[in-house]
Amino acid sequence: MLNIKKTKLHVASALLLGSLMGASSMSFAETLKLSHNGDTKSPVHKALKFFADEVQEKTDGDLKVRVYPNGQLGTQRESLELLQSGALDMAKSNASELESFDPAYGAFNIPYIFRDREHFYRALASEDVGQKILSSSEKYGFVGVAYFDAGSRNFYTSKPVHSPADLKGMKIRVQPSPSAIKMMELMGASPTPLPFGELYTALQQRVVDGAENNIGAVTTYRHGEVAKYYTRDGHAMIPDVLVISTKTWEKLSDKNKAAVLAAGKDATAYMKKIWGEYTEEELKKATKMGVEIIDVDKDPFIKAVAPMFQEAEQNPVIAPYVKAIKALDK
Ligand code: GCU
Repeated sequence: MLNIKKTKLHVASALLLGSLMGASSMSFAETLKLSHNGDTKSPVHKALKFFADEVQEKTDGDLKVRVYPNGQLGTQRESLELLQSGALDMAKSNASELESFDPAYGAFNIPYIFRDREHFYRALASEDVGQKILSSSEKYGFVGVAYFDAGSRNFYTSKPVHSPADLKGMKIRVQPSPSAIKMMELMGASPTPLPFGELYTALQQRVVDGAENNIGAVTTYRHGEVAKYYTRDGHAMIPDVLVISTKTWEKLSDKNKAAVLAAGKDATAYMKKIWGEYTEEELKKATKMGVEIIDVDKDPFIKAVAPMFQEAEQNPVIAPYVKAIKALDK
């Protein structure tokens, strides 16, 4: 079942109009449903609205995108399953979540694989890395459209963390991703996979002692109300990814496919611009909320997770990407 609504004209009257005008084919506006788990105040929601506007403009209104925020259509995992069955058209997820659906995304999830933001952007734009990974999942039921900056991920916890030793015995929420679980075990914490939407309550009720994410989780999602320490160890830069169901993709005209990809590229650039400003603002807000920002020596964290890098180099699916990412580190 495909969620494409015929919104421009009623089918019967369009056919009648078509035959009256002698037109051999009529075009209908299609509306694609796009699900994501972010807040309407988040930069990613703005980037997705921007994407939707661009698609409409580039197709002269032939293709529309309706954005459903706040996990209204399900968790990230559920959205991906709906995408695979064709019951949903598009979703914004991230490389961590997608790793369980297409192992190629695991290349982005190796801790400390990116030196800095520029290295990260070079990898996303590279034909041998980012662009190849976007098209690697067609056989798994979805196609990658675009990447979005989601900053760097850091711990936020109910007690201060200065080194991996402080994480011992702490229950830390992770995304349902093999790499995230492995990373947490190597750092000495006990990983607890949970959907993002359940995290505030889990922190509040001390089901978990902490989590890890960009600073927006602390402010926009108010996790800083229930976890007062933010440790800037910068263990990962996990891109957000906009994907489309293979079933929907195959039904789009070549012109509309090109418009979707071009809108995706523009949305990536738009997000790059707004993300930097957002992060600076949110850091100030976190401090105002009474969250202590802890800067640490990253070396012990890097050492703890080093085995993941060696393992990745032996993994036939991700090794070529990992090698290519390293080669871009100049
Ligand atoms: C980031 C990411 C989300 C993801 C979340 C998480 O905020 O943008 O897509 O759901 O991390 O940790 O679950």
